[in-house]
Amino acid sequence: MKEHISAAFKSQFGAAPDVVVRAPGRVNLIGEHTDYNLGFALPMAIDRAVWIALRQREDRRVWLRSLDFNAPADFALDEFSHAAGWTDYVRGMTWALSESGYSLSGWEGVLASEVPVGSGLSSSAAVELAVAKAFWAVRPWTWDGVAMAKVARRHENEWMGVKSGIMDQMISAIGLAGKAFLIDFRKLSFKPVPLPEGTVVVVMDTKVKRGLVESAYNRRVAECREAAVYFMVESLREVSVEIFEELADGLDDVIMRRARHVVTENGRVLSSAEKMAEGDAPGVGALMLESHASLREDYEVSCRELDLMVALATAEPGCFGARMTGAGFGGCAIALVEEGAAQALCVRVAEGYERETKIKPELYVCRPANGAEVVT
Ligand code: GLA
Repeated sequence: MKEHISAAFKSQFGAAPDVVVRAPGRVNLIGEHTDYNLGFALPMAIDRAVWIALRQREDRRVWLRSLDFNAPADFALDEFSHAAGWTDYVRGMTWALSESGYSLSGWEGVLASEVPVGSGLSSSAAVELAVAKAFWAVRPWTWDGVAMAKVARRHENEWMGVKSGIMDQMISAIGLAGKAFLIDFRKLSFKPVPLPEGTVVVVMDTKVKRGLVESAYNRRVAECREAAVYFMVESLREVSVEIFEELADGLDDVIMRRARHVVTENGRVLSSAEKMAEGDAPGVGALMLESHASLREDYEVSCRELDLMVALATAEPGCFGARMTGAGFGGCAIALVEEGAAQALCVRVAEGYERETKIKPELYVCRPANGAEVVT
């Protein structure tokens, strides 16, 4: 990819780029819809990223062409306004960096993305962190992954109006090759955890995108807030399974089920991290299946295609467990699979899925990759 994007830069500008940066998408192994409840999750950055090849400009402008879309981003660093399409992410992230007090210089470049948009692999966090890294590359400051993730979340919350948590931005910033991360969203602390030896993660893209994901997501955030108020705590993170069971009867059914998902999911994340450290792949797989059931029944963010993908993968030899990943309502599921069985699983699950749905899915093995970085 580095060669590809450098060549694209050269044909655009007639010279080699000063620098190439990349920031990855992610999958979340377990811990869904827990981040905005200040709980725990176990995501990993993947070997699919947003890449930018760039060079400094003398004036205070950004000019950026995407190899995937037509209109370039073209704006001055001191005048922030919304624009249609993908360029709004670049403008908004620039606004968030500037508002957060970072000194910025102008640059120009080309961008290419390996992270499919709307598939639940966090293409937007990858763009945000790649843009931050591009600004850092032309005018460096002390790079702190957590601080950058906060700026990117500010962009999501304030510029885009999505009440998302910080998981996607955190892992795109702090990821490390070969490792998943146990993240504690109250402390914003994190700990690397290796995948169980001999296992890989298979991404299973349903190629289904549901509309109104943002409003359904924001509604879940509000429902969790309502539950936290009922339990008289700052966030559902404070509610143990015991407290939940003692007091849940007083809750409306929907709110009760949303809270039950979050409370039990936090426990599953912590158990998964322990089992991963012990190399207990079947143990992790069983928790992934429980997580999926909870997201389907209690949180109601799965869909027929995700359920089918999980069922097909689970029936294959060498599969320890599977679940939807990301916000839900379409997008991707993942499976934890014995390395030697992964290729056959990809072929057979893809066949089964296409037979049932008439949709051609995309399945591939992904590896834990580095977070946002300059590529040398
Ligand atoms: C989206 C959000 C994240 C997180 C997940 C669900 O990816 O951006 O902050 O809430 O959904 O776990």
